[in-house]
Amino acid sequence: MSTSAEDRSALLAIAVDIAREAGRVAAEGQAGIDVLDTKSTPTDVVTEMDRAVEELIRERVLARRPDDSVLGEEGADETGSSGVRWIVDPIDGTVNYLYGREDWAVCIAVEAEGRTVAGVVAAPVRGDLYTATLGGGAYCNGERLAVAPPVPLDMALVATGFGYSARRRAQQAEVLRTVLPRVRDIRRGGSAAVDLCGVARGRTNAYYERGLNPWDWGAAALIAQEAGARVGGLHGAPPNPDLTIAAPPGLFEELHDLLAGLGADTDGPEEG
Ligand code: IPD
Repeated sequence: MSTSAEDRSALLAIAVDIAREAGRVAAEGQAGIDVLDTKSTPTDVVTEMDRAVEELIRERVLARRPDDSVLGEEGADETGSSGVRWIVDPIDGTVNYLYGREDWAVCIAVEAEGRTVAGVVAAPVRGDLYTATLGGGAYCNGERLAVAPPVPLDMALVATGFGYSARRRAQQAEVLRTVLPRVRDIRRGGSAAVDLCGVARGRTNAYYERGLNPWDWGAAALIAQEAGARVGGLHGAPPNPDLTIAAPPGLFEELHDLLAGLGADTDGPEEG
């Protein structure tokens, strides 16, 4: 289905309604988690909340758009006939969520003809609602977003994140050992979506990470792009699980070339 600007705004409006409701439910759930309570298992509580929020989003989407497809981090995989697909991360930044921290978000991207046409990242504890439509700009709480003015790599504040497996982390640390002395500084916020929105908002200059999935970057990559960032993988590829980089043009290429030379899109040499 090809979409007009009106279609994209209409899809965004639905995504915003649903993300707001999901954000409220998740934030109420977070208030009830006590990570220091050793008698219960807080990780299970987070997993349950993740699933419940995804189910809420799936139900709300299909109630309003019964012919659409829905793909979610927690397993939602509904195939519809309309050519429109909703990509959902119920809680991006689950470790932050577990520890009562602010930087986590409900992410909803809407795809048509294989392209993201609308996206929302709701970070309810921060009170930040990021939105974008393809060709329509990016906003935070209604205010237009623009990336920070271009800087060379050695002046760039660069956000990144780490995967969950020990082997991947060892390689990520190895890459970071070379990156860190070449940039202004590094930030590790704990939510890929909020990190990408940070680039869109000019709160960092760049972001890179290996191991993201479409639900982590879907909505936030559109927001960063619409704010003026280039978002992609290595050698002209779109964002992908091997590596996702976001930065204004110029800085993107500098960071890209450094990361490509370091094998940042790999888990390092095979052991044994
Ligand atoms: C994670 C966060 C984190 C990033 C990880 C992701 P989750 O998502 O975005 O910042 O470093 O790679 O998996 O697991 O909290 O939804």
